[in-house]
Amino acid sequence: MLYHLIRPLLFRLDAERAHDVVTAMFRATSRMPLLPRLISALYAWDDPALMVEWAGLRFASPLGVAAGFDKRADLVDALALLGFSHVEVGTVTPRPQPGNPGPRLFRLPEDMALINRLGFNSPGMVAVAKALRARRSHRVIVGVNIGKNRDTPLERAVEDYAATFVALAPLADYVAVNISSPNTPGLRRLHERAALEELLRELMRLNHGLLYPRPIVLKVSPDETLDQIEEVVRAGCEAGVAAFIATNTTLAREGLRSRLANETGGLSGRPLALRARQVIRTIYRLTRGTPPVIGVGGVLTADDAYAHIRAGAHMVQLYTGMVYVGPAIAREITCGLAQALRRDGFASVTQATGVDAEWEGATRQWG
Ligand code: FNR
Repeated sequence: MLYHLIRPLLFRLDAERAHDVVTAMFRATSRMPLLPRLISALYAWDDPALMVEWAGLRFASPLGVAAGFDKRADLVDALALLGFSHVEVGTVTPRPQPGNPGPRLFRLPEDMALINRLGFNSPGMVAVAKALRARRSHRVIVGVNIGKNRDTPLERAVEDYAATFVALAPLADYVAVNISSPNTPGLRRLHERAALEELLRELMRLNHGLLYPRPIVLKVSPDETLDQIEEVVRAGCEAGVAAFIATNTTLAREGLRSRLANETGGLSGRPLALRARQVIRTIYRLTRGTPPVIGVGGVLTADDAYAHIRAGAHMVQLYTGMVYVGPAIAREITCGLAQALRRDGFASVTQATGVDAEWEGATRQWG
């Protein structure tokens, strides 16, 4: 409710500046005495029907924060208070890098969307490791999303992912391998079978060397053809990935109404939802939930989250919804999801996963 009052003020600021203001507030309130309890009481929503498990991890609900919101890993405690079951921090690169010059984040309010071309602004793996060690609360699951530095040639990308993996996997509950950002030139070529196999082979080798190997998940692009997605899923399954995240932002621009629709970068939010759902459904049809799919793209309401789950997602994540709906979004979605499950006679989220996967023969529409 309060957010409706604050939002017009925030929307007067440059989008990245507004993000900095909001996250500074999150950080400050999570460190004050007593306030965290109050925030958690107001925003968190617990319901046993929402619990989800995969790869030995137990999530209090299927809703998490998508990568990009907390690139420095210093918001985990604050986001936990808002009722998310997990936070995926990053993308983290090995060395610090500033990302692209600004302005590089744009709101498209008429479309409930964002376009960003941040280009992996990252404090680097050493700083992120320090922030992860400084966490106070261990009530949420933390994924670390890893990538490569912009100036590392693609042929040497594996070295960057490997370095970041070694530095951060021991501090993470799971590691997400980001091959799908549109803002690092050439990155999406890692979807190609040979390159992907080489990358995953090396990460699996390093993982087996850990005392406690971590689930490794692969985050895919919505802009590949469905045949390419199938290839990626096959390579991922053969390598032993623990989940697929579908999807990252899109380069597509169909049907947008906003003035800034032609800004360069990745589009997120409402216009991505159907496309992300198609990819979720495609992956689910191939895997039948083993490994599971984490659905991302255009989740702003409980209905959006529920539709991703029914299409085949075990869990969902969001970013853009935080900008348009505000910090109460986790409570609204988890509460609405629990109601929808009960209404439709499902005792758990997992029971609803994939019930619509065969529905809509239109899956092979694009690509
Ligand atoms: C992102 N996203 C993203 N993804 C990723 O894997 N690494 C990253 O660093 C980022 N950075 C990032 C910054 C900004 C400003 C946005 C809006 C998004 C993509 C994000 O995790 C998610 O996949 C998409 O935004 C789709 O979800 P929503 O935003 O529609 O809920």
